[in-house]
Amino acid sequence: MANPELATMGRVFGLQDLSNVSKDVIKSAEGLTVWLLTGEMGAGKTTLAKSICRELSVNEVVSSPTFSIINEYKTSQGKSIFHFDFYRLKSEVEAYDIGVNEYFESGNICLVEWAEKIPSLIPDHYFEITLQMSDPTSRAINYGRH
Ligand SMILES: Nc1ncnc2c1ncn2[C@@H]1O[C@H](COP(=O)(O)OP(=O)(O)O)[C@@H](O)[C@H]1O
Ligand SMILES: [Mg+2]
Repeated sequence: MANPELATMGRVFGLQDLSNVSKDVIKSAEGLTVWLLTGEMGAGKTTLAKSICRELSVNEVVSSPTFSIINEYKTSQGKSIFHFDFYRLKSEVEAYDIGVNEYFESGNICLVEWAEKIPSLIPDHYFEITLQMSDPTSRAINYGRH
C-alpha cells in the first residue's frame, strides 16, 4: 500500500461497493437508531447516507422540516428516516429548538452529518461511521457501536 496510514483506516471502498458497504453498515447498526456519519467535507457522508436509505427501501423524500438541516425520507413500509446535516448550524441551542432530541428519541433511524456541532445532544447509545478520503476514487470506512 502506497500510504502506510491506510492500513489502519479500515475497509477501502469505491462507489461500485456502496450498496454492499451500506448493507453491512445496516446489519452492524441493528438495534441502534442514531447513526453518526463522521469525516471531513468530501469524505462521502451524504453519498453513504443516501445509499443506506436506498438499501432501507426509501422511495420518496417526504419533506424538509427545516430546509437544509433535516430531511425526512419514507421507506416503502411507511417508516420515516431522518437525515440531518448540522454543517451550517449556528449553535446547539438552534438544534435543541428544532427538537433534535425528539427526533433522536423517536425510534426512527436518524442519519447525522456534522454531529460535532451538537456534542451535548448525542445520546448515550449510537452508531458511528467514520469516512476518510483514501484517494480521489475511494474512501476508507470504519464503524462501530457506542
Ligand atoms: N466511496 C466513495 N468512493 C469514491 N467516491 C466517493 C465515495 N463516496 C463519495 N464519493 C464522492 O465524493 C464526493 C463528495 O461526497 P459527499 O457524499 O458529498 O461528501 P460529504 O457529504 O462527506 O461532504 C462526491 O463527488 C461523491 O461522488
Ligand atoms: Mg454532506
